[in-house]
Amino acid sequence: MSKLCVIGTGYVGLVTGTCFADLGNQVTCMDIDENRISLLNQGVMPIYEPGLEQLVVQNVKAGRLFFTTDYAAALKDVDFAFIAVGTPSGDEGEADLQYVRQAAEAIADLVNKPVVVVNKSTVPVGTGDWVADIIRKRRNGRPLEFSVASNPEFLREGSAINDFMMPDRVVLGSEDRKAAEAVAELYAALRCQILITDLRTAEMIKYASNAFLATKISFINEIANICEELGADVRQVAAGMGLDKRIGPAFLDAGLGWGGSCFPKDVKALAHMAVLHGSQPQLLQAVMDINRMQRRRLVMKLRKALGNLDEKTIGILGISFKPNTDDLRDAPAIEVIHLLQLEGAKIQAYDPQGMENAAKILKNVKLCQNPYQVAEGADALVLATEWNEFKQLDFARIRDLMARPIIMDGRNLWDPQHLRELGFHYTGVGRP
Ligand code: UDX
Ligand code: UDX
Repeated sequence: MSKLCVIGTGYVGLVTGTCFADLGNQVTCMDIDENRISLLNQGVMPIYEPGLEQLVVQNVKAGRLFFTTDYAAALKDVDFAFIAVGTPSGDEGEADLQYVRQAAEAIADLVNKPVVVVNKSTVPVGTGDWVADIIRKRRNGRPLEFSVASNPEFLREGSAINDFMMPDRVVLGSEDRKAAEAVAELYAALRCQILITDLRTAEMIKYASNAFLATKISFINEIANICEELGADVRQVAAGMGLDKRIGPAFLDAGLGWGGSCFPKDVKALAHMAVLHGSQPQLLQAVMDINRMQRRRLVMKLRKALGNLDEKTIGILGISFKPNTDDLRDAPAIEVIHLLQLEGAKIQAYDPQGMENAAKILKNVKLCQNPYQVAEGADALVLATEWNEFKQLDFARIRDLMARPIIMDGRNLWDPQHLRELGFHYTGVGRP
């Protein structure tokens, strides 16, 4: 059993801290956001993540998990200090590390025994060394035995607990192998593959993994766009490709493309690192361009189906960037809504979990309580996020509610033939 502090109680920090507590460690999760911490201390989750609430409540009750805004209390006597603060994109696409700096300085000021500082947040290659420098300088000669390790997260929102407890691999990087092995001990109970590298290699594994997954999605989206011209069905194409073990079926779902708080930020940051160091990330640039075009292609298809978008009512089903999360960060639906509004369309939208966040960031959008309200009087209906509850809608009722039977299936969730038999004008992505 070790004593840990996790700085940054967001989608990653909160899941990481709770799961480490569930493995028997004593964990204090710290955040500067007082509201977030006070909610957690009342057993109320600040984010939607399936299974999290029960895990938090049970570990708080067991006396293993604590929440505070007080850096000193959080860092007292810890063996490990995890940094999981936000690393949002800056104006040039670079990762904004101001919060990582603040966490590193607090660690330097407040730790009182040998500690392993672990970067959990996605940080540019070389940040581990940078954090070590900050701590050394901040100690200003006061002795402290510490090492820095990189332990990138591979958690998907909506399945984050499962991804933590049953990882394909744990990646650890450090210039001090003993420190990496100490962190590896924390994961021993998971009995999974643990890869230990140097700091920069671990940081690059994270970026390269996310960039590859984004590339795979942009690849199938480019194939989908070609399928539309050639009359092939991209879902079948993906199925045929995925049977090849070298390709695999995952991340070959064509649609509106990738959003969220990671892929967009991480692909941009990797491309930025490349340019800063004199290499041209042509492929990464194309991956981002294709992804950006997917949102615009859907708007083009709507404009074609409706003649023009001015004064048209468009229903949007799903706003979160993917199912099973309330996270709207860089959600394709948000950009589609903005593009439609620019052409004078009137938007009505619904999301099973994202309505609270939607109310904060969407303007002039009618926020509905269910899919049928979204269909009411709509000239077209767009599926932007493939929530399970949208799978089996009462389409006869939907058709009767809509002003025109036009459906844009942005995630190829529905069966084209079934909808066409009901009288809908159905358009998918990469489907004949
Ligand atoms: C974060 C990083 O953004 C991402 O790069 C990395 O892959 C995983 O960790 P996420 O957990 O989604 O992702 O970030 P977010 O949900 O924005 O949470 C960040 C938390 O850090 C917020 O609760 C914020 O209040 C907190 N924070 C921010 C601090 O505690 N201290 C700070 O100085 C700044
Ligand atoms: C991702 C990585 O999967 C995870 O390993 C990393 O730690 C954080 O970033 P996340 O962003 O939570 O996780 O969700 P993910 O399931 O990867 O989906 C990312 C985006 O890609 C979503 O917008 C999703 O809709 C889209 N996507 C995913 C596709 O468009 N097609 C696919 O086949 C898969």
